[in-house]
Amino acid sequence: MDTLQLMKSRHSVRQYTEQKIEGETLETLKAELKSAEEKSGLKFCLYLDEPYAFDCHISRKIGFKNANNYIAIIGKKTFENEMNAGYFGTQVVLKAQSLGLNTCFVGGTFSRRKAKYKTENGEKLLCIITVGYGETQGVPHKNCSIDKLCDFRGDMPPWFMKGMDYAMLAPTALNKQKFRFILRNGNEVKLVPRGGACKGVTLGIVKYHFEAGAGKGNFVFV
Ligand SMILES: Cc1cc2nc3c(=O)[nH]c(=O)nc-3n(C[C@H](O)[C@H](O)[C@H](O)COP(=O)(O)O)c2cc1C
Repeated sequence: MDTLQLMKSRHSVRQYTEQKIEGETLETLKAELKSAEEKSGLKFCLYLDEPYAFDCHISRKIGFKNANNYIAIIGKKTFENEMNAGYFGTQVVLKAQSLGLNTCFVGGTFSRRKAKYKTENGEKLLCIITVGYGETQGVPHKNCSIDKLCDFRGDMPPWFMKGMDYAMLAPTALNKQKFRFILRNGNEVKLVPRGGACKGVTLGIVKYHFEAGAGKGNFVFV
């Protein structure tokens, strides 16, 4: 499956079966986490068969079930690190999707008190990604109109359009799509946050998506 197909088939999944992640699938996932750690300078810690993080009222209310496997992304709490958590987290999520696994980025609806992750030297938990075999494949999210998500003058270049198509497939906190891509001077793209929860992580995810669609050679981020 190519990147676009993986992005199209990825939806947040909160209910998982009891099937364990093991064998070659597990080894490939671990290799992807190592690669994400090397590129981002963050920790991508995999917890398997850990029932505590999602054993709380808010998780049950949202509908999480058997969310016993998750990746804790840990590092110093800077905006750049939050963006990297989203950017390289997306690389992991798409690899998981290619392995037949399902995922969900989670910023808030779990128990920080009960979860087993560890931080040291001023590090913080930047985000969690649940991973496992979904009971379903999830459903596509609703999109804002594209006019709200980008700004350009004249005709929209095809590469920019493709970048926007991919960006609109990205998961965003509460599906609020709090971002805007601004095109100026032919090939200069500015990615601007528009507030909201988990701003940095969301922006990193959207950046990864846009870049994959637009093609890195066609533009520069300014
Ligand atoms: C940074 C971030 C944080 C999120 N936090 C939560 C969360 O705390 N609880 C939850 O159930 N879903 C969470 N989500 C999942 C979003 O609700 C979901 O991505 C959005 O509704 C779009 O749906 P989709 O992922 O199926 O495309 C989060 C997503 C992102 C990107």
